[in-house]
Amino acid sequence: MMPLNVYITRQIPDEGVNVLKKACQKVEVNPHDRPLTYDEMLKEVRGRDAIITMLSNRVDARLMQEATNLKIVANYAVGYDNIDVKAATVRGIVVTNTPGVLADSTADMAWALLFSVTRRIVEGDKLTRAGQFTGWAPMMLLGGDLVGKTLGIIGAGRIGTAMAMRSRGWCMKVLYTTQSRRNTVLEEMLGAKRVDLETLLKESDFISIHTPLSEKTRHLIGSQEFSTMKRTAYLINTGRGAVIDEDALVQALRNRQIAGAGLDVYEEEPKLKPGLAELDNVVLAPHLGSATVETRTKMSLMAAENIIAVLNRQKPPNCVNPEALT
Ligand code: DGY
Repeated sequence: MMPLNVYITRQIPDEGVNVLKKACQKVEVNPHDRPLTYDEMLKEVRGRDAIITMLSNRVDARLMQEATNLKIVANYAVGYDNIDVKAATVRGIVVTNTPGVLADSTADMAWALLFSVTRRIVEGDKLTRAGQFTGWAPMMLLGGDLVGKTLGIIGAGRIGTAMAMRSRGWCMKVLYTTQSRRNTVLEEMLGAKRVDLETLLKESDFISIHTPLSEKTRHLIGSQEFSTMKRTAYLINTGRGAVIDEDALVQALRNRQIAGAGLDVYEEEPKLKPGLAELDNVVLAPHLGSATVETRTKMSLMAAENIIAVLNRQKPPNCVNPEALT
Protein backbone atom coordinates (compact mmCIF):
# COMPACT_ATOMS: atom_id res chain seq x y z
CA MET A 1 0.00 0.00 0.00
CA MET A 2 1.37 3.41 -0.97
CA PRO A 3 1.69 5.97 1.86
CA LEU A 4 -0.48 8.35 -0.09
CA ASN A 5 -3.36 10.64 0.69
CA VAL A 6 -6.29 10.98 -1.72
CA TYR A 7 -9.35 13.24 -1.44
CA ILE A 8 -12.59 12.92 -3.42
CA THR A 9 -14.67 16.10 -3.46
CA ARG A 10 -18.06 14.35 -3.72
CA GLN A 11 -19.41 10.86 -3.23
CA ILE A 12 -18.94 8.77 -6.40
CA PRO A 13 -19.68 5.06 -7.08
CA ASP A 14 -17.82 2.74 -4.69
CA GLU A 15 -16.01 0.80 -7.43
CA GLY A 16 -13.37 3.49 -8.03
CA VAL A 17 -13.13 4.41 -4.35
CA ASN A 18 -12.45 0.77 -3.42
CA VAL A 19 -9.66 0.52 -5.99
CA LEU A 20 -8.04 3.57 -4.40
CA LYS A 21 -8.57 2.25 -0.86
CA LYS A 22 -6.70 -0.93 -1.74
CA ALA A 23 -3.74 0.99 -3.15
CA CYS A 24 -3.44 4.10 -0.97
CA GLN A 25 -3.09 4.61 2.76
CA LYS A 26 -5.71 7.32 3.11
CA VAL A 27 -8.75 7.94 0.94
CA GLU A 28 -11.29 10.49 2.14
CA VAL A 29 -14.58 11.47 0.54
CA ASN A 30 -16.49 14.72 1.14
CA PRO A 31 -19.11 13.50 3.66
CA HIS A 32 -21.65 16.21 2.77
CA ASP A 33 -24.38 15.77 0.22
CA ARG A 34 -23.39 19.05 -1.43
CA PRO A 35 -20.43 20.47 -3.31
CA LEU A 36 -17.62 21.90 -1.18
CA THR A 37 -17.28 25.66 -1.12
CA TYR A 38 -14.06 27.08 -2.52
CA ASP A 39 -12.83 27.81 1.01
CA GLU A 40 -13.53 24.24 2.08
CA MET A 41 -11.64 23.02 -0.98
CA LEU A 42 -8.65 25.20 -0.01
CA LYS A 43 -8.57 23.45 3.36
CA GLU A 44 -9.17 19.94 2.05
CA VAL A 45 -6.45 19.92 -0.61
CA ARG A 46 -3.65 20.59 1.88
CA GLY A 47 -1.42 17.56 2.28
CA ARG A 48 -3.19 15.53 -0.43
CA ASP A 49 -1.23 13.68 -3.11
CA ALA A 50 -4.21 13.31 -5.41
CA ILE A 51 -7.73 14.69 -5.67
CA ILE A 52 -10.76 13.64 -7.65
CA THR A 53 -12.66 16.81 -8.57
CA MET A 54 -16.12 17.43 -9.97
CA LEU A 55 -16.89 19.81 -12.85
CA SER A 56 -18.41 22.16 -10.27
CA ASN A 57 -15.08 22.54 -8.40
CA ARG A 58 -12.94 25.48 -9.44
CA VAL A 59 -9.34 24.30 -9.44
CA ASP A 60 -7.22 27.41 -9.93
CA ALA A 61 -3.62 28.49 -9.29
CA ARG A 62 -4.40 29.61 -5.72
CA LEU A 63 -5.88 26.24 -4.83
CA MET A 64 -2.93 24.37 -6.32
CA GLN A 65 -0.59 26.71 -4.41
CA GLU A 66 -2.13 25.47 -1.16
CA ALA A 67 -1.76 21.84 -2.24
CA THR A 68 1.99 21.51 -1.99
CA ASN A 69 1.96 17.69 -2.21
CA LEU A 70 -0.50 17.50 -5.09
CA LYS A 71 0.57 15.34 -8.04
CA ILE A 72 -2.68 14.80 -9.89
CA VAL A 73 -6.11 16.36 -10.31
CA ALA A 74 -8.36 13.61 -11.70
CA ASN A 75 -11.46 15.40 -12.99
CA TYR A 76 -14.62 13.31 -12.78
CA ALA A 77 -15.83 14.59 -16.18
CA VAL A 78 -14.68 14.73 -19.75
CA GLY A 79 -14.77 18.54 -19.77
CA TYR A 80 -12.05 20.21 -17.68
CA ASP A 81 -12.80 23.90 -18.15
CA ASN A 82 -13.09 24.10 -14.33
CA ILE A 83 -9.33 23.52 -14.04
CA ASP A 84 -6.54 25.97 -14.78
CA VAL A 85 -4.52 23.44 -16.75
CA LYS A 86 -1.67 25.88 -17.46
CA ALA A 87 -1.25 26.58 -13.74
CA ALA A 88 -1.25 22.82 -13.08
CA THR A 89 1.34 22.15 -15.77
CA VAL A 90 3.82 24.73 -14.48
CA ARG A 91 3.58 23.09 -11.06
CA GLY A 92 4.08 19.60 -12.55
CA ILE A 93 0.55 18.59 -11.53
CA VAL A 94 -1.04 16.10 -13.92
CA VAL A 95 -4.65 16.69 -14.97
CA THR A 96 -6.79 13.80 -16.20
CA ASN A 97 -10.39 13.47 -17.37
CA THR A 98 -12.86 10.70 -18.25
CA PRO A 99 -13.28 10.64 -22.04
CA GLY A 100 -15.10 8.01 -24.07
CA VAL A 101 -17.05 6.24 -21.33
CA LEU A 102 -19.72 8.93 -21.23
CA ALA A 103 -20.16 9.51 -24.96
CA ASP A 104 -23.17 7.19 -25.31
CA SER A 105 -24.98 8.30 -22.17
CA THR A 106 -24.50 11.97 -23.03
CA ALA A 107 -25.66 11.45 -26.62
CA ASP A 108 -28.72 9.60 -25.28
CA MET A 109 -29.43 12.57 -23.03
CA ALA A 110 -29.17 14.97 -25.97
CA TRP A 111 -31.68 12.87 -27.89
CA ALA A 112 -33.95 12.67 -24.84
CA LEU A 113 -33.99 16.48 -24.70
CA LEU A 114 -34.49 16.71 -28.44
CA PHE A 115 -37.54 14.44 -28.29
CA SER A 116 -38.90 16.08 -25.15
CA VAL A 117 -38.88 19.58 -26.57
CA THR A 118 -39.91 18.66 -30.12
CA ARG A 119 -42.80 16.45 -29.03
CA ARG A 120 -43.69 18.69 -26.06
CA ILE A 121 -43.48 15.85 -23.53
CA VAL A 122 -42.90 18.06 -20.49
CA GLU A 123 -45.77 20.39 -21.38
CA GLY A 124 -47.97 17.33 -21.86
CA ASP A 125 -46.87 15.82 -18.55
CA LYS A 126 -47.68 19.05 -16.68
CA LEU A 127 -51.08 19.32 -18.33
CA THR A 128 -51.94 15.69 -17.59
CA ARG A 129 -50.88 15.90 -13.93
CA ALA A 130 -52.88 19.10 -13.55
CA GLY A 131 -56.02 17.21 -14.58
CA GLN A 132 -56.34 19.26 -17.77
CA PHE A 133 -56.32 16.29 -20.14
CA THR A 134 -59.97 16.20 -21.03
CA GLY A 135 -59.61 13.84 -23.99
CA TRP A 136 -57.79 13.50 -27.31
CA ALA A 137 -57.85 16.73 -29.27
CA PRO A 138 -56.85 17.25 -32.90
CA MET A 139 -54.89 20.44 -32.24
CA MET A 140 -53.46 19.69 -28.81
CA LEU A 141 -49.68 20.21 -28.31
CA LEU A 142 -48.62 19.75 -31.91
CA GLY A 143 -44.88 19.24 -32.27
CA GLY A 144 -42.52 18.60 -35.17
CA ASP A 145 -41.36 15.57 -37.17
CA LEU A 146 -37.78 14.32 -37.23
CA VAL A 147 -37.61 12.05 -40.28
CA GLY A 148 -35.58 13.48 -43.13
CA LYS A 149 -34.70 16.68 -41.27
CA THR A 150 -31.22 18.16 -40.91
CA LEU A 151 -29.18 17.67 -37.74
CA GLY A 152 -26.33 20.11 -37.10
CA ILE A 153 -23.57 18.96 -34.76
CA ILE A 154 -21.38 21.68 -33.29
CA GLY A 155 -18.24 19.84 -32.19
CA ALA A 156 -17.98 16.41 -33.76
CA GLY A 157 -15.78 14.72 -31.17
CA ARG A 158 -16.74 11.50 -29.39
CA ILE A 159 -20.07 12.72 -28.00
CA GLY A 160 -21.00 14.65 -31.16
CA THR A 161 -20.24 11.54 -33.19
CA ALA A 162 -22.40 9.34 -30.93
CA MET A 163 -25.20 11.91 -31.23
CA ALA A 164 -24.95 11.97 -35.03
CA MET A 165 -24.79 8.17 -35.38
CA ARG A 166 -28.15 7.87 -33.61
CA SER A 167 -29.76 10.03 -36.32
CA ARG A 168 -29.68 7.06 -38.72
CA GLY A 169 -32.98 5.89 -37.25
CA TRP A 170 -34.62 9.03 -38.60
CA CYS A 171 -32.76 9.19 -41.92
CA MET A 172 -31.48 12.66 -41.13
CA LYS A 173 -29.03 14.71 -43.09
CA VAL A 174 -26.03 15.57 -40.89
CA LEU A 175 -23.94 18.73 -40.97
CA TYR A 176 -21.08 19.29 -38.57
CA THR A 177 -18.43 21.75 -37.48
CA THR A 178 -15.22 20.74 -35.78
CA GLN A 179 -12.17 22.55 -34.46
CA SER A 180 -9.94 19.64 -35.36
CA ARG A 181 -9.66 17.31 -38.34
CA ARG A 182 -12.46 16.01 -40.56
CA ASN A 183 -14.68 13.36 -39.04
CA THR A 184 -14.27 10.58 -41.61
CA VAL A 185 -16.52 8.19 -39.65
CA LEU A 186 -19.46 10.58 -39.96
CA GLU A 187 -18.65 11.40 -43.57
CA GLU A 188 -18.33 7.77 -44.64
CA MET A 189 -21.13 6.26 -42.57
CA LEU A 190 -23.71 9.03 -42.75
CA GLY A 191 -22.62 11.14 -45.69
CA ALA A 192 -22.24 13.98 -43.18
CA LYS A 193 -20.87 17.30 -44.45
CA ARG A 194 -18.37 19.51 -42.67
CA VAL A 195 -19.55 23.11 -42.97
CA ASP A 196 -18.88 26.49 -41.40
CA LEU A 197 -20.95 27.56 -38.42
CA GLU A 198 -23.09 29.98 -40.41
CA THR A 199 -24.13 27.31 -42.91
CA LEU A 200 -24.89 24.87 -40.10
CA LEU A 201 -27.06 27.45 -38.33
CA LYS A 202 -28.90 28.40 -41.53
CA GLU A 203 -29.62 24.87 -42.72
CA SER A 204 -30.20 22.77 -39.60
CA ASP A 205 -33.57 21.87 -38.09
CA PHE A 206 -31.94 20.56 -34.92
CA ILE A 207 -28.64 21.86 -33.58
CA SER A 208 -26.76 20.00 -30.88
CA ILE A 209 -23.78 21.49 -29.05
CA HIS A 210 -20.86 19.23 -28.13
CA THR A 211 -17.87 21.53 -28.40
CA PRO A 212 -15.73 21.98 -25.26
CA LEU A 213 -15.87 25.35 -23.51
CA SER A 214 -12.84 27.53 -24.12
CA GLU A 215 -12.23 31.24 -24.66
CA LYS A 216 -12.86 30.53 -28.36
CA THR A 217 -16.26 28.90 -27.81
CA ARG A 218 -17.63 31.05 -24.96
CA HIS A 219 -20.89 32.62 -26.27
CA LEU A 220 -20.37 30.95 -29.63
CA ILE A 221 -24.16 31.07 -29.95
CA GLY A 222 -25.58 34.54 -29.26
CA SER A 223 -28.18 36.92 -30.69
CA GLN A 224 -26.52 37.09 -34.10
CA GLU A 225 -26.52 33.27 -34.36
CA PHE A 226 -30.15 33.00 -33.22
CA SER A 227 -31.13 35.38 -35.99
CA THR A 228 -29.32 33.13 -38.48
CA MET A 229 -31.16 29.99 -37.35
CA LYS A 230 -34.49 28.83 -38.81
CA ARG A 231 -37.53 29.97 -36.84
CA THR A 232 -38.51 26.29 -36.71
CA ALA A 233 -35.14 25.14 -35.34
CA TYR A 234 -34.47 23.50 -31.96
CA LEU A 235 -31.23 23.97 -30.04
CA ILE A 236 -29.91 21.23 -27.72
CA ASN A 237 -27.01 21.72 -25.31
CA THR A 238 -25.41 18.92 -23.31
CA GLY A 239 -21.89 20.41 -23.51
CA ARG A 240 -21.21 23.48 -21.40
CA GLY A 241 -23.72 26.24 -20.68
CA ALA A 242 -21.47 29.17 -21.46
CA VAL A 243 -21.14 28.11 -25.12
CA ILE A 244 -24.56 29.81 -25.39
CA ASP A 245 -25.23 33.40 -24.37
CA GLU A 246 -28.12 32.43 -22.12
CA ASP A 247 -29.63 35.95 -21.99
CA ALA A 248 -29.77 35.95 -25.79
CA LEU A 249 -31.32 32.46 -25.68
CA VAL A 250 -34.09 33.65 -23.35
CA GLN A 251 -34.86 36.46 -25.82
CA ALA A 252 -34.79 34.14 -28.82
CA LEU A 253 -37.16 31.65 -27.14
CA ARG A 254 -39.45 34.37 -25.85
CA ASN A 255 -39.68 36.04 -29.28
CA ARG A 256 -40.10 32.64 -31.00
CA GLN A 257 -37.00 33.41 -33.04
CA ILE A 258 -36.34 29.67 -32.71
CA ALA A 259 -38.89 26.94 -31.96
CA GLY A 260 -37.37 25.60 -28.76
CA ALA A 261 -34.41 24.37 -26.79
CA GLY A 262 -33.39 21.43 -24.63
CA LEU A 263 -30.73 22.21 -22.05
CA ASP A 264 -28.74 20.04 -19.68
CA VAL A 265 -26.14 22.70 -18.86
CA TYR A 266 -26.24 26.38 -17.90
CA GLU A 267 -24.05 29.40 -18.15
CA GLU A 268 -23.82 29.95 -14.39
CA GLU A 269 -24.68 26.49 -13.22
CA PRO A 270 -26.72 25.77 -11.14
CA LYS A 271 -28.31 29.24 -11.53
CA LEU A 272 -30.66 29.92 -14.43
CA LYS A 273 -30.84 33.24 -16.25
CA PRO A 274 -33.99 35.24 -15.42
CA GLY A 275 -36.95 34.23 -17.52
CA LEU A 276 -35.63 30.85 -18.67
CA ALA A 277 -37.70 28.73 -16.28
CA GLU A 278 -40.92 30.54 -17.22
CA LEU A 279 -40.75 29.54 -20.89
CA ASP A 280 -42.77 26.62 -22.24
CA ASN A 281 -40.59 26.06 -25.30
CA VAL A 282 -37.55 24.91 -23.35
CA VAL A 283 -36.91 21.64 -21.51
CA LEU A 284 -34.49 21.94 -18.60
CA ALA A 285 -32.48 19.06 -17.12
CA PRO A 286 -30.08 19.32 -14.15
CA HIS A 287 -26.81 18.32 -15.90
CA LEU A 288 -27.57 14.61 -16.24
CA GLY A 289 -25.55 13.87 -19.39
CA SER A 290 -23.39 11.14 -17.90
CA ALA A 291 -25.85 10.20 -15.16
CA THR A 292 -26.30 6.47 -15.65
CA VAL A 293 -25.14 3.86 -13.15
CA GLU A 294 -22.94 2.19 -15.77
CA THR A 295 -21.27 5.38 -16.95
CA ARG A 296 -20.67 6.87 -13.51
CA THR A 297 -19.19 3.55 -12.37
CA LYS A 298 -16.80 3.53 -15.33
CA MET A 299 -15.89 7.16 -14.62
CA SER A 300 -15.02 6.31 -11.01
CA LEU A 301 -12.78 3.44 -12.14
CA MET A 302 -11.13 5.63 -14.75
CA ALA A 303 -10.36 8.40 -12.24
CA ALA A 304 -8.90 5.80 -9.85
CA GLU A 305 -6.74 4.25 -12.58
CA ASN A 306 -5.41 7.67 -13.55
CA ILE A 307 -4.47 8.41 -9.95
CA ILE A 308 -2.78 5.08 -9.40
CA ALA A 309 -0.75 5.46 -12.59
CA VAL A 310 0.52 8.90 -11.57
CA LEU A 311 1.30 7.85 -8.02
CA ASN A 312 3.27 4.93 -9.50
CA ARG A 313 5.12 7.43 -11.70
CA GLN A 314 3.51 6.07 -14.85
CA LYS A 315 1.72 7.89 -17.64
CA PRO A 316 -2.00 7.97 -16.81
CA PRO A 317 -4.31 6.77 -19.58
CA ASN A 318 -6.28 10.03 -19.77
CA CYS A 319 -3.76 12.80 -19.30
CA VAL A 320 -4.76 16.21 -20.68
CA ASN A 321 -1.39 17.90 -19.96
CA PRO A 322 1.38 15.40 -20.81
CA GLU A 323 3.91 18.27 -20.51
CA ALA A 324 3.41 18.06 -16.73
CA LEU A 325 4.93 14.58 -16.76
CA THR A 326 8.29 15.74 -18.03
C1 DGY B 1 -18.70 15.97 -18.54
O1 DGY B 1 -18.24 14.90 -18.14
O2 DGY B 1 -17.98 16.91 -18.85
C2 DGY B 1 -20.17 16.07 -18.70
O3 DGY B 1 -20.60 17.37 -18.67
C3 DGY B 1 -20.87 15.25 -17.66
O4 DGY B 1 -22.24 15.22 -17.94
